[in-house]
Amino acid sequence: MSHSLVTMSYIVATILFILSLSGLSNQESARKGNYYGMLGMAIAILATVLSDAVNGQTVIATIGGVSLSPYAILILALLIGGSIGAKAATKVEMTQMPELVAIMHSLVGMAAVLVGYANFMDDNSHLVGVEKTIHEVEIYLGILIGAVTFSGSVIAFGKLSEKISGKPLLLPARHWLNLALLISAIVLGGMFLQESENPNQALIPLAIMTVVALLFGIHMVMAIGGADMPVVVSMLNSYSGWAAAATGFMLNNDLLIVTGALVGSSGAILSYIMCRAMNRHFLSVIAGGFGTSGGTAAEVVGDVQPINAEGAATLLSEAKSIMIIPGYGMAVAQAQHTVNEITKLLRGKGKTVRFGIHPVAGRMPGHMNVLLAEAKVPYDIVFEMEEINEDFPKVDVSIVIGANDIVNPSALDDPNSPIAGMPVLECWHSKTTIVMKRSMASGYAGVGNPLFVLENTRMLFGDADKTLQEVLKHLKE
Ligand code: TAP
Repeated sequence: MSHSLVTMSYIVATILFILSLSGLSNQESARKGNYYGMLGMAIAILATVLSDAVNGQTVIATIGGVSLSPYAILILALLIGGSIGAKAATKVEMTQMPELVAIMHSLVGMAAVLVGYANFMDDNSHLVGVEKTIHEVEIYLGILIGAVTFSGSVIAFGKLSEKISGKPLLLPARHWLNLALLISAIVLGGMFLQESENPNQALIPLAIMTVVALLFGIHMVMAIGGADMPVVVSMLNSYSGWAAAATGFMLNNDLLIVTGALVGSSGAILSYIMCRAMNRHFLSVIAGGFGTSGGTAAEVVGDVQPINAEGAATLLSEAKSIMIIPGYGMAVAQAQHTVNEITKLLRGKGKTVRFGIHPVAGRMPGHMNVLLAEAKVPYDIVFEMEEINEDFPKVDVSIVIGANDIVNPSALDDPNSPIAGMPVLECWHSKTTIVMKRSMASGYAGVGNPLFVLENTRMLFGDADKTLQEVLKHLKE
């Protein structure tokens, strides 16, 4: 394929990626956005595979005495990578999606590190002067960002899958440690550039910097408390984009640079939005536990008032205005379809039913919106937190379905709480709040919730889907 045709295909792919991002920003157009993304990626892969960079090569590798053509290597890589990806995607539960995304980010980071080292070991004798220095800076930065992304994403995977505790690891001199790691990365960069004439010598600062970057990634994510994880997930998403862009610079691949920059900047914007939603400063979160109080939340004391499905159905039948607040537990129970059935029934009886969505409900951005869209809940009754938070005093019954941290009043009135300062859905201002969950266990942030013992709260214990089906049965009677 000629160079100009490849460039043209890359431009088309870039436009499709931009359309994809804009489609994904709205739930009604999200499906279309995904199709644009898939088409763009197919065009990008095809154009790259058919380009002279691959096609023009003769034999490039010999494995066990067998010479492999570039295409044989590509097909082998696609088969191995593709089958692992396909298996992971078909096996993964919807609730494990955030972990899968985190581990995928780690692979982007690892790829940037490996490409960086391969580039460093390659014959770069044709580069001289400024061009050579720029190339070396690209390699250094690519490996640095890649290593931080890799180790940070592996820890994020551990935290999201609850293999690692969600509690922040707050080392006493953690900010000094971060500063020391940053300064050493800069000093090592200088040493790397100075030794550039002698690759064997330059390899030493490069390898030490890789270890430093890996440690920084681990420390950064370990220091982040459970409730701040959304910011980290989107930030690592952004890092993986910048790692891909750095790889693009190393490989002189325009499409990789543009795609990486798109992912990097959209991830950064998402991180900013998440920070605003959580009332956190972006720099405080990435510096690790800056905004975290480190104190212990006050214990929750009081008696809970349980209710059964029949009682909940009676309260709903008597209510005029109802607010549904879904959380992670709705995703676990896959209760969205029953929620939609109940919504249809209640609206059919002339009641006002609305949904209040917290920006970090569930375990990934837009988690609840995706589930409600899947169950075909009309978009026009689904509201963001800031749109409806002031309406709670006019609501008769709020029904909290498997949510916990996002409706925790201690975020507003306990300065020692790990989630202090985070805006929450203030459902306790409604006449009655029904909270559906299986036990008195805490949510992702690991803090007790005083909402459960308030006078106007009724606890409806059990799996959200099973209990809602019972509520539906009683509502129909
Ligand atoms: P959580 O605070 O994690 O609470 C979910 C509740 O659902 C749990 O207390 C659990 O209580 C209940 N539950 C679990 N399975 C259930 C089932 N089958 N039926 C009924 N209830 C069930 O969730 P949330 O309120 O949605 O808040 C999200 C939290 O995750 C925040 O802290 C947020 O910062 C964090 N986080 C969010 C993201 C993104 S981007 N959204 C990413 C990472 C972390 P029981 O065990 O008693 O049933």
